[in-house]
Amino acid sequence: MRVSDTGERHGGNLTAAAARLGQPPGRLLDASASLVPFGPPWALRRALLGASLGSAVRVYPDRGWQRLRGQLAALHGLEPADVLPGNGAAELFTWAGRDAAAAGLSLVPQPGFADYSRALACWGGRWQGLPLPLTWPEAFPQPFPALPDSPSPASEAQVLWICNPHNPTGQLWSRHSLEPLLERHRLVVCDEAFLPLVPGGEAQSLLPLLQRHPNLVVVRSLTKLLACAGLRIGYALGSPERLRRWAAWRDPWPVNGLALAAVEQLLADPSALAGWTLRVQGWLAREQPWLRRQLGRWGQFTAMPSAANFLLLRGSGPLVELRQAMERRHGILLRDCRSFEGLGASWLRLGLQDRRGHRRLLAALAQELPPTD
Ligand SMILES: Cc1ncc(COP(=O)(O)O)c(C=O)c1O
Repeated sequence: MRVSDTGERHGGNLTAAAARLGQPPGRLLDASASLVPFGPPWALRRALLGASLGSAVRVYPDRGWQRLRGQLAALHGLEPADVLPGNGAAELFTWAGRDAAAAGLSLVPQPGFADYSRALACWGGRWQGLPLPLTWPEAFPQPFPALPDSPSPASEAQVLWICNPHNPTGQLWSRHSLEPLLERHRLVVCDEAFLPLVPGGEAQSLLPLLQRHPNLVVVRSLTKLLACAGLRIGYALGSPERLRRWAAWRDPWPVNGLALAAVEQLLADPSALAGWTLRVQGWLAREQPWLRRQLGRWGQFTAMPSAANFLLLRGSGPLVELRQAMERRHGILLRDCRSFEGLGASWLRLGLQDRRGHRRLLAALAQELPPTD
């Protein structure tokens, strides 16, 4: 795995960037992470305030997560025992990694989110990259690329890691194309962290297949949807037996009391979450095609088709200097893609902003790189 000159395998390093640039974090436009720019919802902020004034900070959080489990299960039409809350999706990948390492060789699509290999490395898990084609059509959902058929280690991998929609490409895989893969692998880990943001995305979720496939585990995050990356809250959905095992491995209080109390309060009104989700999907449906059209003025790069709240830019040449200039001269952070296997210096990832943020970004781009239209 190659790492960028800044050594970063994730976007969203706002504090480090602010220190590097000598600017307050509030002055920067962070398009290197993919968070909803107008969140978190006020209902969550109010819930946090209420939780901090109540007992959530003073007492140990519920180790059984009874209330939150019940709420999340109701949200997805499952049983509380099918749900395990975690300290963000990332913490849950650690335990998925332990199961995967024990099951055998993992197949990990590349370019892909770096945390799966981090989780596997914790347990000495073996993995092999599944190279994804670097061109893809406009329409979504798309079929998941065919797995190797000829006898090879990859064709016999016991574990498959899926990210839907895929980070960093933004491709939304069809459930129809993923379902047969559940017969092929001993364990399938499906990361649906960004799925609730995608209009119509839930129709491709693997959650309806959980009951019939105990070898499937779906990991979700509230970080993206609610723009609460600092709060750290996600959850896994899978067989009760698997989740009991994971719960026994982890430290006793992986979900902090503030996150637990605030999210419980938010979910007490499911219509508020549904309303927020619609608002987020409306923003994505409006801003993403608009920004992509605007970016079409530059012949020096192509904004690749995406179903998600981030766009991958493919340059006709290296984009490293452009990224650095955007950061140094305009305080705009873009994701360097050199740490993604299969991508290189000519790729950047850009997290969607609000219209104002997009105008700031486009104006800065125009200063650094004259549009070719
Ligand atoms: C595809 C994907 N899954 C999961 C995560 C992590 O989610 P969380 O903040 O809930 O740990 C990220 C963070 O960037 C991500 O890109």
